[in-house]
Amino acid sequence: MTAAPAIETAALSKTYAGGVRALADLDLRVERGEVFAFLGPNGAGKSTTIRLLLDLIRPTAGRAWILGYDCRTDSVETRRRVGYMPGDLRLFDRLTGREQLDSLARLRGSVDSAWRRTLSERFAVVLDRPIRELSRGNRQKLGIVQAFMHRPPVLVLDEPTSGLDPLLQGEFRTLLHETVAGGASVFLSSHSLDEVQHVADRVAIIRSGRLTDVDSVERLRGRSLRHVTVTFSQPADPHAFASLEGVRVVGVEGVVVRLSAPVAAMDAVVKAAARHRLVDLVSAPADLEEIFLELYREEDDRA
Ligand SMILES: Nc1ncnc2c1ncn2[C@@H]1O[C@H](COP(=O)(O)OP(=O)(O)O)[C@@H](O)[C@H]1O
Ligand SMILES: [Mg+2]
Repeated sequence: MTAAPAIETAALSKTYAGGVRALADLDLRVERGEVFAFLGPNGAGKSTTIRLLLDLIRPTAGRAWILGYDCRTDSVETRRRVGYMPGDLRLFDRLTGREQLDSLARLRGSVDSAWRRTLSERFAVVLDRPIRELSRGNRQKLGIVQAFMHRPPVLVLDEPTSGLDPLLQGEFRTLLHETVAGGASVFLSSHSLDEVQHVADRVAIIRSGRLTDVDSVERLRGRSLRHVTVTFSQPADPHAFASLEGVRVVGVEGVVVRLSAPVAAMDAVVKAAARHRLVDLVSAPADLEEIFLELYREEDDRA
């Protein structure tokens, strides 16, 4: 028998009661041993897809499989093989973190307690306070231990790094690399291109319930967008920037020029700026919706 992919969906669709078409005809294939990111702005249908994979909600049409098991008809088999981190982490608020993990470990029956302890230490999980007293970041850390502690072959993580401080985001990245090196597969959702490009091998982009693109991270990286604010010592002339590929001058106020620039153009932007005396240069990542708008603007320009 050839090995089934980690995750596969065929024309998977979900329309909620009330008529919201949250997901339309999703065809995806996540190979074993890869980190696959599901990228889209809020409301795109990421959590809907993930809840369908976990059989927490039922599809309107289409099918999904995890390691070859049907997510609906074999949901006991699929859930046994999945480490799941929900987007809206609902834990038993009155329990402490330790009690929550204990009760899950009993349910799972197969938790490696040394590994669980190591994970709790690596993410500095707060174990002895009631969960209702924990910050979002601390709940998220508990959710990571919960998803990884039984060493599942497939991880399904819904916006796992939102609320995590930058240091722990690095630790989380390391954990993902170890996980796939050990032969497991990871499917994670995110609304930040900058975040997923550090962890994922491939990225699927979803917008308004429809898959728009599946691409390698290298190809997407250059399309990532920056807001650049350049402050000169003299009133500025923005013409040098306007002629650069993909760069837009968003505003000029006296000595300050605001640009939007793809990462691929940053070298040219910095060199153009450096022809005059600089006081400051700030570059910040744009959010995903802005990146999409810029991509579609380019397509419109070409058409
Ligand atoms: N239980 C629900 N009932 C009705 N509409 C829903 C429900 N859950 C999500 N939606 C709608 O479905 C769309 C996709 O939501 P969701 O999958 O949560 O997106 P994402 O996780 O990408 O932010 C949104 O328009 C959202 O408002
Ligand atoms: Mg969501």
